[in-house]
Amino acid sequence: GWEAKLQLVQRHVRAFPDFPKKGILFRDICPILKDAAALKAVIDLFEEHVRNMYQHVDLIVGLDARGFLFGPLLAQRLGVGFVLVRKKGKLPGATVSVSYDLEYGKAEAEIQEDAVAPGQRVLLVDDLLATGGTLHAAAELMRKQQAEVLGCMVVIELKELNGIDKLKPHRVFSLLQY
Ligand code: PRP
Ligand code: ADE
Ligand code: MG
Repeated sequence: GWEAKLQLVQRHVRAFPDFPKKGILFRDICPILKDAAALKAVIDLFEEHVRNMYQHVDLIVGLDARGFLFGPLLAQRLGVGFVLVRKKGKLPGATVSVSYDLEYGKAEAEIQEDAVAPGQRVLLVDDLLATGGTLHAAAELMRKQQAEVLGCMVVIELKELNGIDKLKPHRVFSLLQY
């Protein structure tokens, strides 16, 4: 059931103090990827949420880099395509970009201009929500391309950083909250 899968996922997240900087408690999702059942549980839970919440999804949009670990698996389950939001300078051809702040730095997100069409219904997928800067940048790229963001999906939400507020009015679905 839902609860057993959640617990399986939770058992495969570990915390590292002071990484990558002093004061940051880093939530490491690598053990999820290493365990076939835990990774399947994440995708099962994501899939169930999407099927319960949305009639029609056109595309899954995944965020560089850790959103790429979960996004394509979910997209395959749903039978839809996957689009990459990458850090700047990695995508060929015409691109649209936006800069943003991280819990521990600064970055620029970019998408290919033809990646999403106006009116397409997309879900944003990442591993973790901290300040919301990364997902907010992706939502901004979707706005520029006139795509409709149905919601954001993450494995982990760090509640004290209030990323949820930064992402309003978009909805955020998370499996685990710390
Ligand atoms: C991490 C994490 C999220 C983001 C969350 O990515 O994977 O994408 O930070 O933080 P925020 O909500 O404050 O934006 P990061 O850019 O550090 O590295 P990655 O390339 O490993 O995904
Ligand atoms: N990305 C931003 N903050 C993070 C944290 N505390 N752990 C893992 N990834 C992160
Ligand atoms: Mg990331």
